[in-house]
Amino acid sequence: MKTVQPISLAFSGIVIILLCTTITAQAADTKPIASGIILEACKNVSSDFFKVRFTHDFCVSTLQSDNRSTNAKDYRILALVAVDTMKSQATAATAKVDKLIQGATKDKTATRALGFCRVDYSGMVSTLEICHDIIQSFEIRKGNEGVTPFLLPGCIEKTTKDINDCADKTEFASISVGLMKEYEDLSMLANLSSSLLLLFITSPPPRGLGLDIPSD
Ligand SMILES: *[C@@H]1O[C@H](CO)[C@@H](O)[C@H](O)[C@H]1NC(C)=O
Ligand SMILES: *[C@@H]1O[C@H](CO)[C@@H](O)[C@H](O)[C@H]1NC(C)=O
Ligand SMILES: *[C@@H]1O[C@H](CO)[C@@H](O)[C@H](O)[C@H]1NC(C)=O
Repeated sequence: MKTVQPISLAFSGIVIILLCTTITAQAADTKPIASGIILEACKNVSSDFFKVRFTHDFCVSTLQSDNRSTNAKDYRILALVAVDTMKSQATAATAKVDKLIQGATKDKTATRALGFCRVDYSGMVSTLEICHDIIQSFEIRKGNEGVTPFLLPGCIEKTTKDINDCADKTEFASISVGLMKEYEDLSMLANLSSSLLLLFITSPPPRGLGLDIPSD
């Protein structure tokens, strides 16, 4: 009988952390230096990998690929970058599903499963457009007007259903492998977006809500 000792589990955990740190440090040498607000946000949201399922590196490289991040004055702008990245990947995934449908005309099961994925992904694009607008125009509530802060991460969480629905529908069809990368990327981006929005609404000023109060 093989028993896994807690101590050896803890030890392999440490080794993994050390490995990750080394990989991150090496990668950092070849990339432009990320701005302070990106590093600060990514450090916070990627502190618990088993909960959020994306790495610090994924967070930094996603945010860094859009120059709005560099001059971001609050976490809301970073979340907007993540949401827009997710929207363009969902758009690309919809196009890929269309291509797969064209190639699967004789396979009824696959065609049907892909049809659900098209509905899921194109619906996700529309949802993310609404989320973008909500985040873009978010202001602190005055009285009972405007959206409540928790609607921000809540909006992104609606896409989780779409992501998982497509994965479930294609699981037993022969085409699931063709959409695996889309599934993984969209899941990570959904987690990154909602984590950044949660960070934004729970942070004290000046990085959180306080920044949005218009000064007069
Ligand atoms: C950001 O990058 C885009 C192209 O990706 C460019 O058109 C735009 O001028 C840049 N904005 C700033 C503020 O550097
Ligand atoms: C991240 O993704 C996992 C698996 O998809 C999910 O269980 C978890 O709730 C997500 N976390 C956040 C913060 O969205
Ligand atoms: C992340 O930020 C929140 C809000 O400012 C804070 O409460 C929390 O302790 C931070 N977590 C980490 C791991 O830095």
